[in-house]
Amino acid sequence: MLRRMLDQVPHAPQKLPVFGHMAALMAGAPWDVTERWLRERGPTVRLQIPGASYLVTSDPEFIRHVIVGAADNYVKDLRAMGAFLDILGHGLLTSDGELWKRQRAVLARAFRIEALRNVAEASIRAVDRLGAVLDAHARSGRPVDIGAQMRRLTLQVIAEATLQMPPHQSDDVLPRLYEPLVEEANKRVWQPFRGYLPMPAKFRYDRSLAQLDAFLLGKIRARLQARRADPQARPADMLDMMLISLDDGGWTDDSERLVSDELKTMLFAGHDTSSAMLTWTLHALTQQPAELERLRADAATVWKGEGMPDYEQLKRLDFAGACLKEALRLYNIVPIVVREAVVDDTFGALVIPRGTKVMIHMQALHKDPRHWPEPEAFRPDRFLGDEPVGHRWLPFIAGPRSCVGQHFSLLEAKIVLSRLALRYDFEPVPGNSDARHRFNIPVGPRGSIRMHVRPRA
Ligand code: HEM
Repeated sequence: MLRRMLDQVPHAPQKLPVFGHMAALMAGAPWDVTERWLRERGPTVRLQIPGASYLVTSDPEFIRHVIVGAADNYVKDLRAMGAFLDILGHGLLTSDGELWKRQRAVLARAFRIEALRNVAEASIRAVDRLGAVLDAHARSGRPVDIGAQMRRLTLQVIAEATLQMPPHQSDDVLPRLYEPLVEEANKRVWQPFRGYLPMPAKFRYDRSLAQLDAFLLGKIRARLQARRADPQARPADMLDMMLISLDDGGWTDDSERLVSDELKTMLFAGHDTSSAMLTWTLHALTQQPAELERLRADAATVWKGEGMPDYEQLKRLDFAGACLKEALRLYNIVPIVVREAVVDDTFGALVIPRGTKVMIHMQALHKDPRHWPEPEAFRPDRFLGDEPVGHRWLPFIAGPRSCVGQHFSLLEAKIVLSRLALRYDFEPVPGNSDARHRFNIPVGPRGSIRMHVRPRA
């Protein structure tokens, strides 16, 4: 009976008997295919694949209902994240219920914008180190792979914020362990059998995971010992904050595993996303020299002389912020999130039976011309007016499960982008393109984005 209530919602096109929309969905990037369907039949459509049926929506009111107003009626759908569970464990991104609530409270404190002064300092140090690499490229005339450099930089910053890890250790250890893990996990989302086949990629994956776990456990145990020797020491990073909250309540083997899962989650969620945002923004700005000049003019009012600018000014960097937000709208590095109803729910006349999965389509919302005129144009001005955009701009979503790293990531990226723009001229290498990766989330460029750099006078 309740299922029939969904009949008022149109099916997405190209539905076949038995397999439903599976074949059509695999014909391109799933978020691009579903965006087209929403454009044709939206703002909400039904989608079926073997074993699951979804409501797919870009309706801002319905989205707010699911992620904010009636958030208690929904949980995360971990099906799509299954391949990442080894990397994320039961960290904040994947946990639910009491465990999530407790950990969110601890970590939300560490991620408040007021608490991020050390992230600003780490970001300045990281962009200055990147400067040395760019200078070497400028001298040799070799182009820079912007995505690779941004990944290295964002790993250094998150590794320092979570673990006080020195940059050379971050460079030596993290890319080597993370890259095979992330690459293989992304493949397993679409080819789950890869997890069971005895092939070299599986052995490399298992080895990297075991090494990452051992590395983090070593860090946790050493730090716990140090804290117990000096319990009054001020917390220096997120690892300290987690240890303080857990050690107060009694340390168990589960605590060790939990802290390790949170660290893995932060390192994973905190670098590829920010680096994709920075890469796309720089790419867009090199196509729009006038906007790049506006960014420089705004940045020059903050970066004066050699000293560290005032933290209040760094937090603003308004034009850099507008460029980053516009890149998030245009390139949609996290294009969808999925929720599952845990009770029967209603939204207006629509009844959503328990078990229904709701695919929240931020990309379709961000590309809808009714909300964003000329949606394919890169126009940072959209984010400089007084009109709030909260209901139509949701790259970090909203509500209790919104991105805990939102302020972290925008602060870090504003600093990096504005300082780089002031110090360097960028000339894209022919062949850079807007084409996005077809299957990986966060969605980065399909090929590499390469640029010649020249220090500015
Ligand atoms: C441009 C950068 C980023 C984007 C677009 C982004 C986007 C998102 C989105 C859409 C979610 C919701 C996922 C879902 O509900 O399934 C999320 C959650 C999360 N993000 Fe981010 N993120 C970014 C950067 C970061 C950074 C820098 C960190 C950590 C330092 C981080 C940590 C997390 C965590 C831990 C969650 C789970 C929160 C919870 O469920 O309570 N993110 N992010």
